[in-house]
Amino acid sequence: MSLATLYSRAQAGVNAPLVTVEVHLANGLPALSIVGLPETAVKESKERVRGALLNSQFEFPARRITINLAPADLPKDGGRYDLAIALGILAASGQLPIRQMDDYEFIGELALSGELRPVRGVLPVSMEACASGRALVVPLDNSNEAALVEGATVLGARHLLDVSGHLHGNQPLKPHAYSGNGSEPGGYPNLSDIRGQHHAKRALEISAAGGHSLLMIGPPGTGKSMLASRLPGILPEMSKKEALESAAINSISHDGFVPATLNRRPFRTPHHTASGVALVGGGSQPRPGEISLSHNGVMFLDELPEFDRRVLEVLREPLESGKIVISRAARQAEFPARFQLVAAMNPCPCGYLGDKNGRCQCSLEQVRRYRSRLSGPLLDRIDMHIEVPAVPFDELKTAPASAEDLSMMARKRVQAARDRQLSRCGKANHALGIREIENSCQISHESAQLLEQASRQLGLSARVYHRILKVARTIADLASVEAITTQHISEAISYRRLDRR
Ligand SMILES: Nc1ncnc2c1ncn2[C@@H]1O[C@H](COP(=O)(O)OP(=O)(O)O)[C@@H](O)[C@H]1O
Ligand SMILES: [Mg+2]
Repeated sequence: MSLATLYSRAQAGVNAPLVTVEVHLANGLPALSIVGLPETAVKESKERVRGALLNSQFEFPARRITINLAPADLPKDGGRYDLAIALGILAASGQLPIRQMDDYEFIGELALSGELRPVRGVLPVSMEACASGRALVVPLDNSNEAALVEGATVLGARHLLDVSGHLHGNQPLKPHAYSGNGSEPGGYPNLSDIRGQHHAKRALEISAAGGHSLLMIGPPGTGKSMLASRLPGILPEMSKKEALESAAINSISHDGFVPATLNRRPFRTPHHTASGVALVGGGSQPRPGEISLSHNGVMFLDELPEFDRRVLEVLREPLESGKIVISRAARQAEFPARFQLVAAMNPCPCGYLGDKNGRCQCSLEQVRRYRSRLSGPLLDRIDMHIEVPAVPFDELKTAPASAEDLSMMARKRVQAARDRQLSRCGKANHALGIREIENSCQISHESAQLLEQASRQLGLSARVYHRILKVARTIADLASVEAITTQHISEAISYRRLDRR
């Protein structure tokens, strides 16, 4: 038999489509060719595999070797196919038993010594290998990540020889069981650290409860960044599914999977000099950007008007759809991006507009130009805008009233409000569609009049009108009532600070 067929997996977005590795040995001049849209790193696999086989005391067949990676139209990158290619050559040349190869999937890069090196994106591979009912053989350093998937059979190997020993049946590898920490939620900065700002804390709680995006406007040093960093700590606990989704994105990202971040809501803070690719993702082998790394968590954009306007505009679509599709020449990759946007800005270029001591030197025109860096359509898509003014000195110097854990208390209320939303519509209020808003955000005649009056005075768009209803729904949910009252509506209107100019 001079043909061997093995399974491996590619990476496409957060998916890991099956790749069949076929190795054929034919008579003719010794040569090795890899076909099936391999990129440079895959082509270099020849040299790594040759070195690994020879250094592991195997024979490198002196024949014409053809390796086909199918499907041929799927781009293939990285050293992840090395292990499958090496085992395929061994099987096709009779150095490994060929039977039961299709009970396994293989992934891993080979060192010239035959040792296995970890690769990126093993978690999505493990999810799909598990779903297909096959055992997954991975480099030992990847085995814990792969074993995160419940029900997966993960075999971690240090060396090519360990894998061949297993396949020969003389030294079976033991399935790896996940061992890890990072499952402890908590350890976030606490709301109790912030003096005053009761209005902002209330808004933060509402935004946490309904997943609403939030823009904070205020002079420097009033606690905007402090508030933002406390949001992940009051969000509802992550479900298993959410935790696995976020871990899968980490797994394919530049930094790779970090066990300590498991079950923690992401909190990303890209700088305003960040490029479009860094923010939304991209590259020749598309990688997730900040919006995807914030999936199921928070992305905080400090100094919002300093961001490149074109970069901000690309946020509009994922803000609505919860995902991003990246197209690069031949490839398309889709990444999830259901993130909660929190942003902060100064009220004017110098930052002190409205300051009691009259420190602001900005002209009206300067203020207008500064604010116009944010487009109307983007502001429309932010559910809540609030002011975060300077805290009076008296309030700042007073000790907190008690040692209460404000974040813990807020998280309980948020969780209860979120549970109401999930049992009503199966999603957080920020994600309600128009039909769902009509069904679940009914308001009285009096409230409708109030809303109409506000819409006319502030010139609100239809989109903003719906946003106000959704925020009012969340306020009612926090109060554990089903009916939205005029009070809830007027509070929701008060969170449209930037619409009144
Ligand atoms: N409301 C507040 N309560 C307690 N400390 C505050 C408050 N506002 C600001 N600070 C102090 O000022 C520092 C800067 O706050 P920060 O949140 O970065 O302000 P901003 O983002 O609004 O410019 C904080 O590290 C903290 O020491
Ligand atoms: Mg700040």
